[in-house]
Amino acid sequence: MCGIVGYVGNKEIIPILLEGLHSLEYRGYDSSGIAIHDGKVLSVLKSVGKLSKLEEILKNDAGSVNGKNGKNEHVYCGIGHTRWATHGEPSDINAHPHFDSDEKIAVVHNGIIRNYQEVKDKLVKSGIKFLTQTDTEVIVQLIAKYLKENNSVLSTICKTVSDLEGSYALAILFKEKPDKIYAVRKESPLVIGLGEKENYLASDSPTLSRFVDKIVRLGDNEIAEVTKEKVEFFNTKGEKINKTVQKVIKSKDFLDKRGFKHYLEKEINEQSEVISNLLNEFLPSSDSKVKFDHLKLKPEFLKNIDRILILACGTAYHSGLIAKYVFENLTSIPTEVQFASEYLNIKPLLSEKSLVIGISQSGETADTLTAIKRAVSCGATLVGITNRADSALADLSKERLLISKAGLEVSVAATKTFTAQITMLYLLAIYISEILGSTERNNLKPLKQELRLIPRLVDQTLTRAEYYQEQVLKYANKRDFVFIGRGINYPIALEAALKLKELSYIHASGYASGEMKHGPIAVLDPNVPVVSIIVPGETYDRVFQNSLEAKSRSAPMIAVTVDGDKKAESIFDTVLHVPPVTEVMSPFLTVIPMQFLAYYIAEHLGRDVDQPRNLAKSVTVE
Ligand code: AGP
Repeated sequence: MCGIVGYVGNKEIIPILLEGLHSLEYRGYDSSGIAIHDGKVLSVLKSVGKLSKLEEILKNDAGSVNGKNGKNEHVYCGIGHTRWATHGEPSDINAHPHFDSDEKIAVVHNGIIRNYQEVKDKLVKSGIKFLTQTDTEVIVQLIAKYLKENNSVLSTICKTVSDLEGSYALAILFKEKPDKIYAVRKESPLVIGLGEKENYLASDSPTLSRFVDKIVRLGDNEIAEVTKEKVEFFNTKGEKINKTVQKVIKSKDFLDKRGFKHYLEKEINEQSEVISNLLNEFLPSSDSKVKFDHLKLKPEFLKNIDRILILACGTAYHSGLIAKYVFENLTSIPTEVQFASEYLNIKPLLSEKSLVIGISQSGETADTLTAIKRAVSCGATLVGITNRADSALADLSKERLLISKAGLEVSVAATKTFTAQITMLYLLAIYISEILGSTERNNLKPLKQELRLIPRLVDQTLTRAEYYQEQVLKYANKRDFVFIGRGINYPIALEAALKLKELSYIHASGYASGEMKHGPIAVLDPNVPVVSIIVPGETYDRVFQNSLEAKSRSAPMIAVTVDGDKKAESIFDTVLHVPPVTEVMSPFLTVIPMQFLAYYIAEHLGRDVDQPRNLAKSVTVE
């Protein structure tokens, strides 16, 4: 987490750094700060809280850090940071950039230094005083110590990083080098943007796409020396290296809310268009086969898969749980879904016949990347599903299914990328099933017809937003929520609980409905609504029975079911209807009233809907 930006050139620097930080705020918003060299003075300005706080401070007093030193043709040089706190509480003092004790070096950092305490102890013994609780201060103090010893910036950086364990993307300013930014990374992203007589750096390429057409991705253990005229690259032995220049993928203006109050509301409402775009590309008609022509998976491999392992976190994990039902039903291949963070402690029982599916909207989630590396080290084949073509997951996966057509998701809570992921997973299950081609599985046409109808049904569901709002706000002041479902809608119960928690801060749990009687039913009382995802089909009667059990414990009862479900209407206090749909396709629809429930309750409670407290969009630390 944390976002880094940097600029060297002749343009006014503060608007550039702020624009970059706005685009990176999804990576953390506990504090922000900038460091600027004006040719003589190296200054830092930082503040706890959202970027808007820093902007306010700058509006009132930009004089000290505007980078102007009175010359006409002046080179502006500066770095900025937006923080998601790991070491040390969010505060002014712990905000980046960090100075060394002599205020001659300023550093911004994304990542975690695992051995920081050990390094800090040594530095403290040598007389260095620390001001902050961050692991980053260790880096800047270490740089200062080594610079005094050897006087060369490049070898100082090489020596410093050789002492560090963990992950880092660093941008560094030196008082003695007024027009240079140094950057180095390991396991945290950093991209250099190449302009005309100006150069940039940032934690992601969409941010750079606002300023430049060409980028260079810094690799692990690589250093960049960025000046206005050129960028030079080195390895951590200090040797010069060549890097490939890439064209940046220009993203649409993702910071446009298109008239919606929040990005979240906009992104929920984009879901039918997103699914439709994906289907038009990969399943243009129910008569066609799934067009994953870019996948190089050999039919012999697909026919002999011994097991499928899906690795993901959070909402992406929930899309994996839905996929398990679809894969096992269509292909009969045993499919397991693991939290990526848990997989780090599990013996990987995989072989060259196994298929690993890694799902991550950001493609940068550290837990997911580490788990995937562990899984593929057994010889398994990886298919990565992400909507960031420029991400670490995309780089790692030779076989990838991109959902970039979903467009960037700005709101921290995932909505449209969830439905985009499940669209791709349904398509992948159909694709494998078509290759397996057994008679029993051959009749995929009805399923493809249903899938092709989903965008229209999602659209119809979205038009019911106002009705959902009116119904769910009756429950906005409840203490806890319990969501229940079975089979393919159990993951929707989990997703609904996650969405409500992260957006509204109300405690919520998702349960397989049959599990309620094994303990969780004890929490029910009139202050704890139960939301049953109850769609006609195989699981209906059992979820209904479990809902009656909850109702007998005085819980207010809400159902998500299809239009015309009179049985549900007779026992539930509130019914959130979706258009009629088969059970297998129902998650595409049942998730929508759940996203609205979380959104409207959070908005009613005055929460920061797009940037909930304590969260970040990309979780790049384990
Ligand atoms: C979703 O609303 C969450 N913010 C979070 O659980 C997220 O899904 C998880 O961190 C995984 O992110 P990824 O898809 O980028 O890997």
